[in-house]
Amino acid sequence: MKLYVCKNYDEMSAKAADVVASVITLKPDCVLGLATGSTPVGMYKCLAEMNKAGKLDFAGVKTYNLDEYYPIKASDPQSYRYFMNKNLFNNINIDIENTHVLNGEAPDTDAECAAYDKAIEAAGGIDIQVLGIGNNGHIGFNEPADELVAATHVQGLTESTIEANSRFFSSADEVPKHALTMGMAPIMKAKRIIILISGKGKHAALKEMLSGGITTKNPATILNLHSDVTVVCDEDAYNG
Ligand code: PGA
Repeated sequence: MKLYVCKNYDEMSAKAADVVASVITLKPDCVLGLATGSTPVGMYKCLAEMNKAGKLDFAGVKTYNLDEYYPIKASDPQSYRYFMNKNLFNNINIDIENTHVLNGEAPDTDAECAAYDKAIEAAGGIDIQVLGIGNNGHIGFNEPADELVAATHVQGLTESTIEANSRFFSSADEVPKHALTMGMAPIMKAKRIIILISGKGKHAALKEMLSGGITTKNPATILNLHSDVTVVCDEDAYNG
């Protein structure tokens, strides 16, 4: 793993944007795997600024997001589709038809998940996957468990994740109890992975991942099996 420890959130965001921008520059029709949550917001802002300044072109880029709550309407301000439109897609010159988020209203979730994995393969696979990490080590909504699931699937959210995400809702009761998430296989098949980690709350999960051990109780540790992972964290996350 390549590790960059940045002074603070803003430096982390700028560094991560540089890494993603370099992939787009070298391959203008690349496929990006994208993440939601508060961590990548600053990086998306930097990418939008590069785009506005004429330094980065998203016209040929395709995106696949990691996950979406279930059930949820795409138009719901809490949906990840809404988040992506607001924080990135509406602010860059991407063709919205080239942006993909799992359908939180899919009548047949198994069919939705299987079609998503097929579509990623058909697009040529993910060139760079952006990840955040949960306090409990989850990536996407692949939660700590005795077994992890390879394919994209429906996942019940753990109490700890519902609690962590309740800050975006008026109460924990309103957080959807399920999500559709890319499984470990499409994540690990990405040619390159960048994981952004900010804040003291992530210290334990980060430290465990960097220790090099692998456990399904901290799904991010599986990234130790991938040959091209860049970790961009801030000092709070690194030092605890
Ligand atoms: P956060 O979420 O960026 O809002 O901390 C990350 C995650 O849960 O994967």
